[in-house]
Amino acid sequence: MYILGIESSCDETAAAVVTENKEILSNVVYSQIQQHKPFGGVVPEIAARAHLEKIDVVVEKAIHDANIDIHDISAIASTCGPGLIGGVVVGATFGKALAMSLDIPFIAVNHIQAHALSARLTDDLPFPYLLFLASGGHCQICIVRDVDDFEVIGRTIDDSIGESFDKVSKLLGYGYPGGAIIEKNAQLGNAEHFTLPRPLCAKSSLDFSFSGLKTAVLVASQKCNTDQDKLDLCASFQSAVTDVVEYKIKHALKRCKDINLSGVVMGGGVAANSSIRKRLENLCQKYNTKFFAPPVKYCTDNGAMIAWLGVEKYQKKQFSDLGFKPTPRWELGGKFQQ
Ligand code: KG4
Ligand code: ZN
Repeated sequence: MYILGIESSCDETAAAVVTENKEILSNVVYSQIQQHKPFGGVVPEIAARAHLEKIDVVVEKAIHDANIDIHDISAIASTCGPGLIGGVVVGATFGKALAMSLDIPFIAVNHIQAHALSARLTDDLPFPYLLFLASGGHCQICIVRDVDDFEVIGRTIDDSIGESFDKVSKLLGYGYPGGAIIEKNAQLGNAEHFTLPRPLCAKSSLDFSFSGLKTAVLVASQKCNTDQDKLDLCASFQSAVTDVVEYKIKHALKRCKDINLSGVVMGGGVAANSSIRKRLENLCQKYNTKFFAPPVKYCTDNGAMIAWLGVEKYQKKQFSDLGFKPTPRWELGGKFQQ
């Protein structure tokens, strides 16, 4: 089975071909960073146009790199939400049109569900597992019982983690894309220099809050006199976030002590952060459970995770009508709705 996956929900136009045997035959990502950089963040209209300009080239290359004929493709999976709707419409419409012309099934994919299942592509990972999902728009802890069965047990009450990295980068004048810049700078800074809060860590609630931490960084930034001070602030911020994540996952594991979990999984763009990964890996070791996070290129947005969810949905015969409407909001939770 060859599934073509198409991703266009934010600032990457991506496509990949994946098989049911977890072979990633191709994985093409065209990043729009250069177009958005002058504006300090993703501009939805620019993103939609850039997806439109690149989608055919990216898909063609994914099929070419996979070394298959276009007629070998079994089904096409496209992100249909959540995300910036202009971009989502481009990938969804392209996928539908190609599926129609090849007379093969179309599979509408939820982008967050794809992040949530991506570790099953790169590892041998049975259900159920505890998922920590941290991307630019989402931050939640779930028990994943099946491809379409998610129990959300914690979520952010304001900003997502990725958003907090992006906002801190912007307010310190480092710009976009924030997460990777803050991580790089944090390696050069002293995390002890600034004392920052660890929000919502006094209780066993599994919810997160990051907007107060961002404000604390803003206040601390007024005391930065040198470049080194700013690097120290990056390190102090990342350390605070990492402490919060460790605290929440520790409590989530306690809450799940009667469930036979196969491990803890981190997914989404923030899973590219090696400091958070390392801390969770150590925590899992302490709790005698396995830790899984896909290689970095499959944490940030990519077509392979969309194709993989396409494989999982194909096996469950969860095909979509060509009339399926792309949507900017599409939450996970409960028995997952199509
Ligand atoms: O999953 P993703 O690529 O796109 C969304 O679905 O949102 O996640 C993007 C988010 C951005 O907020 C970005 O700053 C964050 O992931 N991110 C990171 C790192 N790399 C990307 N955050 C922390 N450390 C990183 N190394
Ligand atoms: Zn994403």
